[in-house]
Amino acid sequence: MTREEKRKKIREILKKHGHEILNSHSFLKSHGFIQHGDMSVYEHSVNVADRALRINRFLHAKCSERELVRGALLHDYFLYDWHIDGKDKGNIHPKLHGFFHPSTALKNANRDFILTDREKDIIKKHMWPLTIVPPLCREAWIVTLADKYCSTMEALGLHRARIKVKYIDMTDDAE
Ligand SMILES: [Fe+2]
Ligand SMILES: [Fe+2]
Repeated sequence: MTREEKRKKIREILKKHGHEILNSHSFLKSHGFIQHGDMSVYEHSVNVADRALRINRFLHAKCSERELVRGALLHDYFLYDWHIDGKDKGNIHPKLHGFFHPSTALKNANRDFILTDREKDIIKKHMWPLTIVPPLCREAWIVTLADKYCSTMEALGLHRARIKVKYIDMTDDAE
């Protein structure tokens, strides 16, 4: 399989399992929040889901791809701008965003979607070791790894996947 065919395959899996989230009005709001550098939370979350699928296939980890995609898309579903100290609704601990945003993301995700236990574990534990309690399932370990990889690449401005995400609309209407 060529690199382009692999990329297309990953996109298909991402849309297949992520379409409910990717098309939801509230998830689309994450286009408006900055994660690292000038990358939005939307772009970051799609990057993490994409990377998690690749790591799973590379390691033959046999994760549930549906839970991997849904958990990765929602892992940073905190829905506020964490760069604005205390001014943005929902940012209750502005100085401790790193510690508290997984529980805010989980609360929002539980409100808007029906989640499995693994999807909840992915969201709750993705900041490990900050969260102290380690992930319970392999899906959560893989998303934790994918998130750290993507965050580092994005912060350094090295994420080539950014170009792909930026120009690809992931909603159902876009092909
Ligand atoms: Fe996060
Ligand atoms: Fe993240």
